[in-house]
Amino acid sequence: PLALALIGIGAYLLGSIPFGVVITRALGLGDVRKIGSGNIGATNVLRTGNKGAAAATLLLDAGKGGVAVLIARAVAGADAAQLAALASFLGHLFPVWLGFRGGKGVATFLGTMLALAWPVGLACCATWAAAFALLRISSASALIATASAAVWLWVLGPASMIVLALLLAALVWFRHAANIGRLMAGTEPRVGKR
Ligand code: G3P
Repeated sequence: PLALALIGIGAYLLGSIPFGVVITRALGLGDVRKIGSGNIGATNVLRTGNKGAAAATLLLDAGKGGVAVLIARAVAGADAAQLAALASFLGHLFPVWLGFRGGKGVATFLGTMLALAWPVGLACCATWAAAFALLRISSASALIATASAAVWLWVLGPASMIVLALLLAALVWFRHAANIGRLMAGTEPRVGKR
């Protein structure tokens, strides 16, 4: 129990590092929370016009979730890995450093899936890419890709992760409430257009 508590806290703290804010500030691009959607994720960092900063945000936000899972699994096994996935994801959504107002969880979701079950993680990334190729809308692609995780887990296994995947996907959808409103109104911006 103590080990699990430490893993949970450590994973939360790792997940709570707001790389989008850190990177845009370090590069003098201003506060990403004051532009575009106001989100701290890679999609909104891209709206600064700096593709490298967006790519770094995507990789680091995904990487922190993946690293949390890999460390937890190495130290304490598969159940601890699922706990670390949830805790790092919650860290990204509700970071203590930003008054608990964090991101929407897409990159961190993908990073934890890749580390928990890499075939499913790859399938989710491919689903995102296919949806994006069709729609050119980051949020819609994320909604489809995160919802697909439970299906991929059912097909590819392990089915024991479906509950976690549904929980994380539900949180991603919840955080995309404003995006869903814009999608339904037909006003959600396509990437690369203003
Ligand atoms: O990662 C969040 C993405 O799905 C949407 O981002 O900035 O368009 O709300 P944004």
